[in-house]
Amino acid sequence: MPPASRPALLARLRSDLGSSLFTVARLSGAGAWGASGGAALFRGERVAARRALASRTPASEAERRSDTLALLFVLGYPQPAADVAAALPELGLAGATELGLVAEDDDRQVRALVDLRPYSFTDSAGEANWWIASDLGELALQGPLREDHVLGIGGASATLSSLMIPRPVDRALDLGTGCGIQALHAARHARHVVATDISQRALDFAAFNAELNLVDGIEFRLGSLFEPVAGETFDHIVSNPPFVITPRTEGVPAYEYRDGGMVGDALVARVVAEAGRHLTPGGVGQFLGNWETGQGAKRGAYSVADWAEQGGVPLDVWVVERETQDPAAYAETWIRDGGTRPGTPDFERLYGAWLDDFDERGVSEIGFGYITLRRPQELHAAAPPRIERLLAPVAAGLAPHILECLAAQDALRDLPDDALAAATLRVAGDVTEERHYWPGNDDPTVITLKQGGGFARSVDSGTALSALVGACDGDLSVGAIVGALAQLLDAPEADLRAELLPQVRELVATGMLRL
Ligand SMILES: C[S@@+](CC[C@H](N)C(=O)[O-])C[C@H]1O[C@@H](n2cnc3c(N)ncnc32)[C@H](O)[C@@H]1O
Repeated sequence: MPPASRPALLARLRSDLGSSLFTVARLSGAGAWGASGGAALFRGERVAARRALASRTPASEAERRSDTLALLFVLGYPQPAADVAAALPELGLAGATELGLVAEDDDRQVRALVDLRPYSFTDSAGEANWWIASDLGELALQGPLREDHVLGIGGASATLSSLMIPRPVDRALDLGTGCGIQALHAARHARHVVATDISQRALDFAAFNAELNLVDGIEFRLGSLFEPVAGETFDHIVSNPPFVITPRTEGVPAYEYRDGGMVGDALVARVVAEAGRHLTPGGVGQFLGNWETGQGAKRGAYSVADWAEQGGVPLDVWVVERETQDPAAYAETWIRDGGTRPGTPDFERLYGAWLDDFDERGVSEIGFGYITLRRPQELHAAAPPRIERLLAPVAAGLAPHILECLAAQDALRDLPDDALAAATLRVAGDVTEERHYWPGNDDPTVITLKQGGGFARSVDSGTALSALVGACDGDLSVGAIVGALAQLLDAPEADLRAELLPQVRELVATGMLRL
């Protein structure tokens, strides 16, 4: 059961957690399970973390309490009742039981009924430390998950929250809120947040987490997709939807937290198609998703633009594809994610069902990535779709970069070529250039412009573009630089301008050149 929401008990729990050193820094640091234990946990193994905790003597009572809470709520090991009572001195065992966090067994051992862990981050509003409750994961359960499992903060959740643009807005929507993590983040820049889910259990967890962390302004609504917000519009919509492609076959578990119950990538298609109607002019939607490449209309990341068009509301579409998998690799990832171990008869059976499903639809590849939709301001037409395949590792915290790119793309929308030629640009501070030469040659065979931050883009360049970028120091206009280059390279100026301006536009749109 999700934990109960009782304000007085939650206040005591908050106070206990706050005084216990049950923090991300403590758990991942050398005093607790350290980097190696943390890495093992990331791989789904808890033994190394437990041993590391057992081998260290806590330096204070607050550390001792943190260790008990970590063993109980993060690793899922039952703890002696006296230790749990000492770890939660204000709430007490009775309060923790009443909140539905723990149950005491006959042998005076207490087991966790929920996962509860610290979570910290830094965003444009500053640093924050929260505690987030969700259902116990496979690690604590030591077995497959329930189909109505409420997910904690996974890799995808952290990805979406780090992409979320911190633009102050009036209304935001988090569709498929789960434990509420995106809604809590959105509440840092939106006056009012609506958080929806098809699962009442999820909404109960989310409400508990909002209250525990004193995050106000979130309204929770039960229902599927956009049904709970029919006729309403939002300035910002975020969703880490249940995008996992699952065979609709008897005997294949359908986990609510990742599977929206539709065939193939149809759920992501619905979210994208319907989002436009729920965005205010200028409003932005940010989603994660999977898309299929294969026969017929299965155009991989390009399908996202088709789905948006089907919605009938003009939208700027920007897709960043971050990963692709073939059907076999995809099946393995998601069967393991549900807690079914390789080498078991169940694993083989599910693997077959997944491959049959992809074969039936002629799917050859599954893409994963980030979708940004923006409803243009009234009277503006949508920009051509931007579909980028960017597989390089990136640093966390892309939100400022996304915001910068959206602003640049907006500025370019109404900027004719003559105005772009008249503009003076600056090359961004994180842009460097790589040159490769055949041995003994003076002229490079390959020139690449590299983006150090953002999506770490690599852009094939020629001598002229490279020289133009190098000259963009905010002094000469683009047109003047092109004129000088035409003379230097002995090339017709009009031809050079026609070749370079679209490339300059692209570099501005991606934050490598600044207007
Ligand atoms: C991948 S989880 C994301 C949870 C959370 N927002 C996060 O980022 O960690 C997807 C959520 O969507 C919910 N869900 C599944 N089908 C849905 C539907 N048809 N409409 C709305 N939410 C749905 C699930 O219950 C689950 O909580």
